[in-house]
Amino acid sequence: MATTDSDTTTTDDTVLSMENVTAGYGNTTVLHDVNVAIEDGQIACLIGPNGSGKSTLMKSIYGFADVKAGSVHFRGQEITGRSPQANLKNGISYVLQDASVFPNTSVHENTLMGGYVFEDDEKAAQRAEVLYDEFPILGDIRQQDAGTLSGGQRRLLELARALMVDPDVMLLDEPSIGLEPRFIDDVFERIEQLNDLGTTILLVEQNAEKGLSVADRGFVLASGEIKFTGTGTELLNDEQVGRLYLGG
Ligand SMILES: Nc1ncnc2c1ncn2[C@@H]1O[C@H](COP(=O)(O)OP(=O)(O)OP(=O)(O)O)[C@@H](O)[C@H]1O
Ligand SMILES: [Mg+2]
Repeated sequence: MATTDSDTTTTDDTVLSMENVTAGYGNTTVLHDVNVAIEDGQIACLIGPNGSGKSTLMKSIYGFADVKAGSVHFRGQEITGRSPQANLKNGISYVLQDASVFPNTSVHENTLMGGYVFEDDEKAAQRAEVLYDEFPILGDIRQQDAGTLSGGQRRLLELARALMVDPDVMLLDEPSIGLEPRFIDDVFERIEQLNDLGTTILLVEQNAEKGLSVADRGFVLASGEIKFTGTGTELLNDEQVGRLYLGG
């Protein structure tokens, strides 16, 4: 089994961690005693069956779910229960599984909305230009209504919007869902590029092989519990993980 003690223990390089977190919604408990530690500069990938609590794990980091016990830390600071807006200001950005764009609003206006925590419009406009250099396709169609974009273009817009704050850490919940294979490869390339530029990434991915293959660290969640942790490669090669969660 791929789990070792060091996988879930925080170190000096830990940027984001959950310690003994039990969380859910109101009276419903979804996560049970979850421990996760992600180091600076890593891509971490969370896999697990539908309904196992992957999105809830992200939501309990970000303040969208109720943490009932345990704690969440970001760069050594406790952030348990902080609001999404405070987390965004603090350098954590989140692309929800059901992220959406404003369809009757231009690509540019949608991009700018990602910087709503900036008090300075000029700063937001400058940041958008930097992102259009990185995502030329979005720059080209900036005046177009977002509702006219293809699925792949829309996903890039969602990513760009989340990058407006130049986050330290990005939480990406199923960024490849519903996309054609050629767009999936594009999104994964973007994720790896962002990571190369220093952004730490926590990814939820239903294509477990693909997700683990780009991940420095992997976590398997089932029934709200972390069942396996290890490097991406360790999990890909683990006999039990393969049989139970990779369809192999
Ligand atoms: N807002 C909510 N209120 C109450 N229960 C919820 C809420 N959101 C999710 N749940 C429940 O929490 C459990 C875990 O859901 P979650 O969305 O975290 O799973 P998931 O692993 O992300 O699933 P999927 O792979 O389908 O995206 C499910 O039983 C779901 O019904
Ligand atoms: Mg989910």
